[in-house]
Amino acid sequence: MGYRIAIDGPAGAGKSTTAREVAKRLGFLYVDTGAMYRAVALEVKRKGLNLADRAEIINVARNSKIEFEWNSGSLRVFLNGEDVTDDLRDNEIGQLASAVSVIPEVRDILVDQQREYGGKFDVVMEGRDIGTNVFPDADVKIYMDASVEERARRRLGDLKRKGEDIPFEDVVREIEARDKRDSTREYAPLRRADDAIYVDTTGLSFEEQVEKIIEIIKRKIQREV
Ligand code: DC
Repeated sequence: MGYRIAIDGPAGAGKSTTAREVAKRLGFLYVDTGAMYRAVALEVKRKGLNLADRAEIINVARNSKIEFEWNSGSLRVFLNGEDVTDDLRDNEIGQLASAVSVIPEVRDILVDQQREYGGKFDVVMEGRDIGTNVFPDADVKIYMDASVEERARRRLGDLKRKGEDIPFEDVVREIEARDKRDSTREYAPLRRADDAIYVDTTGLSFEEQVEKIIEIIKRKIQREV
């Protein structure tokens, strides 16, 4: 069994960039579970399915071979052999991922794969239900959060860099909608595990976030030895 660091939190709290850097510094594998839900969403979109096509969506999840390739700090996501990394980050796919992730069978299929990673490697795994559902006995659990406005500002910055220009209020509304769906769904909702350490990243720089998380992990490891 590998050493498992679980990082959960809402959209835009800084989980992905921070978790990736933390994994790099520790020499651990980084697993972006949101990318797995996004890959299923991409395939659902490509097949022209809508959310009522539940059985077909479950089939898509079952037949989607999602693989990660880590090379020199950059993570590429492959869907059935095709590098889809650049197609996963847009807003529409994020919303669709949130919608397909409500389906319990889809979650079970992806969670099985996530547990396999944690069984074999030392991992920093990031998502919504890692500390509560994927690895309830993770070695370290962190819950990253930030105010909705701060998260919207960061998301807007990401979108602008990609050439998408969306009004700030729309980004706030989309984040609120996604928060609501992710945390009120019945099966494995976004929730802070009772034993997760809460990190509010509002106002923290990227480097401060990384240092804070590394410090929490080091303190935990020191207590264990
Ligand atoms: O972290 P992200 O924005 O890439 O995730 C996209 C969606 O996938 C998110 O809105 C909800 C879903 N998700 C999930 O339900 N469980 C996870 N562990 C990760 C993501």
